[in-house]
Amino acid sequence: MPILPAPKEDFVGLDDIVHLATGGQPPLLQAHRAAFEHFARDKARGMEGYRVHWAVVDEVRTQLASLVNLAPQNIALTGNASEAIAKVVSSIDWQPGDNAVVAALDYASGRYALARLADIGVTVRTVPCDGWTIGIDGLLSACDSKTRLVYVSQVNALTGQHLDIAKVSNALSGTPTALLVDASHALGVVPVPGDLCDFVVSSCYKFLLGVHDGVLGWNRARWPDFVPSGVGWHSATSTVAGFAIKDDAQRAEYGNVGHLGAYLLKASIDYLNSFGIEAITDHVRPLASCLVDGMAQAGLPVMTPSDPVQQAANAAFEWADTESFVTRAQKDGFLVWGDNGRIRVSAHLFTAEADIDAFLDRLPRFLG
Ligand SMILES: Cc1ncc(COP(=O)(O)O)c(C=O)c1O
Repeated sequence: MPILPAPKEDFVGLDDIVHLATGGQPPLLQAHRAAFEHFARDKARGMEGYRVHWAVVDEVRTQLASLVNLAPQNIALTGNASEAIAKVVSSIDWQPGDNAVVAALDYASGRYALARLADIGVTVRTVPCDGWTIGIDGLLSACDSKTRLVYVSQVNALTGQHLDIAKVSNALSGTPTALLVDASHALGVVPVPGDLCDFVVSSCYKFLLGVHDGVLGWNRARWPDFVPSGVGWHSATSTVAGFAIKDDAQRAEYGNVGHLGAYLLKASIDYLNSFGIEAITDHVRPLASCLVDGMAQAGLPVMTPSDPVQQAANAAFEWADTESFVTRAQKDGFLVWGDNGRIRVSAHLFTAEADIDAFLDRLPRFLG
């Protein structure tokens, strides 16, 4: 296996910048240029090329399945993570008086998809956080026999907190509550235990190094009933009576999935796998820890837990004037992400220890 950090030359546009913004938007790979070409050549080949597109989609499903520890037939490609969340929420047979549980700090797409259920008499139990920390015990104690779904991000988008999904999974196992895990800040950089979830969703354009597509993993063995509210030519087959919904997770793919995105994602996952996710995790976690410690030493109001077990690839601190911070950093050659009242700094496989040291050294200048 090649050693980490990954060469910056393998990426587009990393020559003169220290890129610490993968939690928002990573660079593409040089290998994506060949994937674009491959797609373009196949696109010009009529039916034969279109069949190749779907064959590439199948290969990507297999790659994703292995990344989330599910079978390929449990994987659907969607337009984005938010759509995947909405499809899962739409599949639950909600009854008035039911409830859903979510942490107040969790991602908007999950919170909004659940809040919409108020119209049909479903209560959303929004669990307050202890400062910037989501407590799993608090989430679990909000659940009762009427809780139909818990939405939780494996790595919180705002704070970078990494949650112990196994603990949530164990507690919900055998209950009528579905566990929907959003792995958008985990997939591609830390192991994602899809086998412990009922559903796992992710965007593809962050640590997974793809573009703006989504993935939905359905753990059928744990949660057999999944019929999203919509249907289309690709999610069903024709029958005498009309149509029959497909047997596997493709029931969540109503029409063509993003073929170009699949070509790119295949190149991304090939690249990530050439290092191995565990090696990437081992490389990135100490860098994130270093960032968290450095931010604390600089006297900043750090949002990411100091416990390394609760860290993944993002470190964040509260900051009101995010725009000025991001601009100052960029002028000095550092890309970070700043919105929602915080600055988020991310490491990935191409991040070197020297990048983190240089950022922490320059940090006081970006504060204004
Ligand atoms: C946890 C989480 N889920 C979902 C999304 C949205 O992804 P998409 O645009 O693919 O729906 C984001 C984007 O930042 C995110 O952080």
